[in-house]
Amino acid sequence: MKSLTTILAIESSCDETSIAVIENGISIKSNKISSQMKAHQAFGGVVPELASRMHAEKIHILLNQALKEAGIAIQDIDAVAVTAGPGLEGSLLVGLTMAKTIAVMLDKPFLAVNHLHGHIYANFLTGTPPVFPFVCVLVSGGHTMLVLVKNHFDFQFLGSTRDDAAGEVFDKVARVLDLGYPGGPIVEKQASEGNPKAFNFPKAMKHRGYEFSFSGVKTAVIQQIRDLQAQGAALPVPDLCASFQKAVIDILLLKALKACDEFQVKGILLSGGVTANKTLRQAFQDACDKRGYHLYVPPFVLCTDNAAMIGAAAYFQYQTFGTASPLTTRANPNLPICSLEQ
Ligand code: KG4
Ligand code: ZN
Repeated sequence: MKSLTTILAIESSCDETSIAVIENGISIKSNKISSQMKAHQAFGGVVPELASRMHAEKIHILLNQALKEAGIAIQDIDAVAVTAGPGLEGSLLVGLTMAKTIAVMLDKPFLAVNHLHGHIYANFLTGTPPVFPFVCVLVSGGHTMLVLVKNHFDFQFLGSTRDDAAGEVFDKVARVLDLGYPGGPIVEKQASEGNPKAFNFPKAMKHRGYEFSFSGVKTAVIQQIRDLQAQGAALPVPDLCASFQKAVIDILLLKALKACDEFQVKGILLSGGVTANKTLRQAFQDACDKRGYHLYVPPFVLCTDNAAMIGAAAYFQYQTFGTASPLTTRANPNLPICSLEQ
């Protein structure tokens, strides 16, 4: 099997357009990211039609920038990889169309990648590749799940959220407090000046296996805000944010450690946009230090959506299965983690 040394990777599943050049699955030659955050801010969330239009406007510019920064011509790539799902259908289509066109034009292998695998493989771009097995905590705007990763592409799904994703509740709490979008970084900033013990928000599903539920904590925060407003009290925004953030982190940590115990695993890997949260990273680091576990955390730029992680996942996908994906692969908005899109 020929190794695919240089992979051109494309990501356009949500509100970041990104193109990267990755070498040997672990080395980033370029990783250009164009965020649409500002455009969606006015609407308080991602507007799908606007997102696909903006991807189409930016993607060619990013392709040229990514190749230039990597110092290669498009003919020099060994394969082209792209996110096929999950994500917004119209947005996914923009990346898929470009990737398929390049693959046909240059007669190179086409690799369709699961976005969730990308978040996990962001951790292989750090210089210290994770050692299998480990428990993966995947927390983003669209997903919250625990996965036992036994080897490359050997995933055992443990559980996910029954309702809102962790990032989604950060965004919703920020919206209720009128703090702006996306909520995660703003809530984190407010929380840094608050008391996490000021309010005792519920940690739902504490005893329910590896399932999560975040709509309860969201409702509890909203109710607390209403109660305070009804009393005519000024809102203690930092305390509300810190207590809410603690409730989310505590339950994620509790279940991740439970999984480590049950499956005799001594490594935890964090992935997805919410793991950009410094308090969350510190809480996991402290718990891992205490137990002698290894914590794998991607650098901040690789926590949120980017094409480098898609290139890394594509490389190991090809190494593991030895096959490219058919050009008939379609965008799949609901692709689950255990599905290998190829
Ligand atoms: O992985 P990601 O970029 O996109 C998805 O695939 O969903 O994650 C975006 C989510 C948003 O909900 C955002 O509010 C959250 O990650 N996020 C954070 C932080 N930075 C981003 N949540 C908490 N703390 C942060 N610092
Ligand atoms: Zn993502």
